[in-house]
Amino acid sequence: MSRVAVVTGGIGGLGTAMCKALIEQGRRAVAVDYNGLSQEAVDKWKADRKAEGLDIPVYLADVTDFDSCAETCKKIEAEVGPIEILVNNAGITRDAMFHKMTPEQWIAVINTNLNSMFNMTKQVYGKMVERGWGRIVNISSVNGIKGQAGQTNYSATKAAVYGFTKSLAQECAKKGVTVNSISPGYIGTEMVRAIREDVLASIVKTIPVGRLGEPSEIGRTVAFMTAEDGGFLTGEDVTVNGGLYFR
Ligand code: CAA
Repeated sequence: MSRVAVVTGGIGGLGTAMCKALIEQGRRAVAVDYNGLSQEAVDKWKADRKAEGLDIPVYLADVTDFDSCAETCKKIEAEVGPIEILVNNAGITRDAMFHKMTPEQWIAVINTNLNSMFNMTKQVYGKMVERGWGRIVNISSVNGIKGQAGQTNYSATKAAVYGFTKSLAQECAKKGVTVNSISPGYIGTEMVRAIREDVLASIVKTIPVGRLGEPSEIGRTVAFMTAEDGGFLTGEDVTVNGGLYFR
C-alpha cells in the first residue's frame, strides 16, 4: 500500500509540484490547504489535476489553529490512511521594511509559517515514532539563511525552521523518523511574482543561474528527502537557490 504523504499549502505553486513529485514516487499525496479558500478555487485545482490524470484529495484547515490541524489529520487518517510523510510547506509573506511593519504583519507570518509547523507535526509525530517509520520535511527559505530587507518576519520564521528541524531530528533519530528542511530560493510561484516588478527584476539579476527556479525543482527535492532509502539523511537542509547564496 502506498504511504500517505500530506503537503500543507498543497494546492499552491510549490505544494502542487510537491504532490506531483510524491505521486511519481508512488506515494498517496494529500493536499491540505487554507479553509478560507473559496470552494471554486479548490474545485478548479482538483479539476486541473484530474485533467492531468491525478486524483489528489484536498482537505481544508487552518494551520495556525491546533484543533483544526488535529481534526483534519484525524479525518485524513480515517479516510485515506496513516500519515507517514508530512511536508510543512504552508507559508505566507507580509513584506514590509521593519519601520513600517505592523504587529498584524508580524503575527500573521509567525502563526502561518512557524506555529503551523508545531500544530501539524504534533498530530503525526507520535504515531510515526510508534510505527518506526516517518519522513518530515519543513520548508524554509534562502532568506532564512541570508536574511532579506523587508522580511524580518518571514526570515525569522524560516531561520526558526532549522532549530526545530535539527532538534526534532535528534529526538527521533533512533526511531526510523527523519526530519529535514529545504531552503528554496526565488521560485516562479505566485508569491514571488507578487513582488513589485522592478524589485523582482533586480533580484533575478543576482541569481547566478540567471532565472527563477521551477516549482518542480523543489518537488524533486521533497521526493529525494522522503525516499524509502533516505533513513540516514536527517537533521539536514538542502538549499535549492540557483547559486544565489552559498552557505
Ligand atoms: N537592501 C537594503 N535596502 C533596500 C533593499 C535591500 N535589499 N531593498 C530596498 N531597500 C531600500 C530602498 O532602496 C529604499 O531606500 P530609500 O527609501 O532610501 O530610497 C527603502 O529600502 C525602501 O524600499 P522600497 O521603495 O522598496 O519600499 P517599499 O515600502 O515600497 O517596499 C518592500 C518594501 C515591500 C519590502 C519591497 O522592497 C519588496 O518587496 N522587497 C522584496 C522583498 C523580498 O525579497 N521578498 C521575497 C518574497 S518571495 C519569498 O519570500 C519566497 C522566498 O522564500 C524566497
